[in-house]
Amino acid sequence: MTEADLPDVVRGEYEKPAWTRAQFEGELHHPQGWQFIAHSRKTGQFAGYLCGRSVADESEIIKIAVVPDCRRQGVARQLLQAAVRHMQCSGVTRCFLEVRQSNVAARKLYEKNLFHQSGVRRKYYSEPLEDALIFKLDLVEEKVEKEQE
Ligand SMILES: CC(C)(COP(=O)(O)OP(=O)(O)OC[C@H]1O[C@@H](n2cnc3c(N)ncnc32)[C@H](O)[C@@H]1OP(=O)(O)O)[C@@H](O)C(=O)NCCC(=O)NCCS
Repeated sequence: MTEADLPDVVRGEYEKPAWTRAQFEGELHHPQGWQFIAHSRKTGQFAGYLCGRSVADESEIIKIAVVPDCRRQGVARQLLQAAVRHMQCSGVTRCFLEVRQSNVAARKLYEKNLFHQSGVRRKYYSEPLEDALIFKLDLVEEKVEKEQE
């Protein structure tokens, strides 16, 4: 992700609460931040993004979203695979993320990509008030590569 991608990224903020351009800029310039952008193979148009951060051997996926017209085509899976490759190359051994309990699409996405639920933060989200499920991915190199073949 670069500054040039930000208009597309901000326009693609369909879910609430939406991030502002300033928040994405903060992420772009965050010393521990890294991001990936996806474009449609057919049209070349912006399809989605993923923002992550790493500290030492631990990473967090801060945000992932795919534009509605491009969903259920494997875009998020490919963004996660790019993130996994990046984390493995950086010596990361575990990755965490938080997801709303009601977000079935995201939960299924993470489970399908070898994340497992490792905890719950009660009443973590507001509007509506909801628990956050904590998902963890252990980056054991052979296992991740084998499963993703
Ligand atoms: C969650 C999200 C990123 C998934 O993106 P996507 O590109 O459609 O996901 P993929 O096509 O890569 O799907 C991979 C797998 O995830 C699961 N999945 C994705 N969307 C799903 C849905 N709506 N219902 C059930 N399972 C779903 C499926 O197992 C799917 O595999 P399959 O299509 O072979 O069955 C997308 O729905 C989105 O942007 N949602 C809004 C933002 C959001 O909720 N982000 C996550 C915050 S934690």
